[in-house]
Amino acid sequence: MNYKKFGDSGLSVSSLCFGTWHFPVLQHGKIPYWVDRELSIKIIRKAYDMGINFFDTANVYNGSIYPENAGLSERVLGEAINGYNRESFVISTKFMGRMEKFPNASGLSKKYLMWQINESLKRMNLDYVDILHMHRPDPETPIEESLNAFKIINDQGKALYFGESYFHPDDVKDIVILSKSMGIKMLSMQEPYNLLEREIEPEKFAISRNYGMGIMAYIPIAQGVLTDKYLNGTPELSRASFVSEIKERYLTEGNIPILNALNEYAKNKGATLSQMSLAWMIKKAEIEKVSIIPVIGATKIEHLEDNIAALDIKMNENDIHEIEMIASEFRINWDSPYNRIKHSIS
Ligand SMILES: NC(=O)c1ccc[n+]([C@@H]2O[C@H](COP(=O)([O-])OP(=O)(O)OC[C@H]3O[C@@H](n4cnc5c(N)ncnc54)[C@H](OP(=O)(O)O)[C@@H]3O)[C@@H](O)[C@H]2O)c1
Repeated sequence: MNYKKFGDSGLSVSSLCFGTWHFPVLQHGKIPYWVDRELSIKIIRKAYDMGINFFDTANVYNGSIYPENAGLSERVLGEAINGYNRESFVISTKFMGRMEKFPNASGLSKKYLMWQINESLKRMNLDYVDILHMHRPDPETPIEESLNAFKIINDQGKALYFGESYFHPDDVKDIVILSKSMGIKMLSMQEPYNLLEREIEPEKFAISRNYGMGIMAYIPIAQGVLTDKYLNGTPELSRASFVSEIKERYLTEGNIPILNALNEYAKNKGATLSQMSLAWMIKKAEIEKVSIIPVIGATKIEHLEDNIAALDIKMNENDIHEIEMIASEFRINWDSPYNRIKHSIS
């Protein structure tokens, strides 16, 4: 495993981050699912044993049962790392989603953020997290109020660096400037990014270069679509078998031949499609001189082994060009405009 500095900070992170979004997946419809607490812990520990030191979660992550199980992923991550040296981990979490049914239990108000940092640390049994993100913009709360809460959390030593996820590029620039004036480090942008979904490239890449922010690229293999598993239908218990959005967003009739062509290119490189897709991203970051860490997921130990081996795949600029040419024919059926931030009146 290689380690690199994230953004312009002194924080060393592994070349891959491991995300716990679907951990544990408790239920598939009405049927108990197979990624239970025990398997989640086994996979997280295996990722660590294979050299991953960077782990991502969020207060709402819960195995898709909402909101009753909000917080479950954080608890499971905390359980998994219990007994290891906390200082050997870089832990990232995110707040914004609904945690209870009462008012002030979602958003980015000072009240919610101060409540959730304490709850999150209790859930993970930690004294601090390394990176705390705003999970999405809150159009109803002035950003100054949220950053004021971040400043207190920073000064209490409960989070070291801060970040955003899926904010408008102009809002990210505003937030970086405001944060700097308050003495807190806005370090991370969590953004959807993979070979098939590259909308963030022009503006977020420029922000990364100009403001020293690192990009945590989530859904780096398009939730499993950039593997060979969906080329001949939907396997039982795959994510697409219970998240219908995946089929609508990616697995249309016109897109399957493109996945096949990408898979053939990978085979010729001696790689699996997921390995090639991750190797593409790592080489792309090098060419573009941006700090990008793919945030991978896995529901089997074999997925981890497959994906971590991507770090041994060598890509040249011609490969990057050829792969992007093939992928440019892929059509994503998904549109989610950014919510905008609000500023305080005074
Ligand atoms: N900030 C945000 O709003 C946001 C949003 C989304 C995600 N994230 C972060 O990003 C992380 C990763 O997202 P993601 O899980 O969608 O990432 P991903 O790496 O694109 O997809 C992971 C899923 O693909 C399948 N898979 C992985 N490797 C495979 C392999 N080698 N062969 C076959 N199937 C394979 C597995 O699903 P199945 O086995 O179930 O099919 C696995 O759970 C999350 O855990 C979270 O931390 C953040």
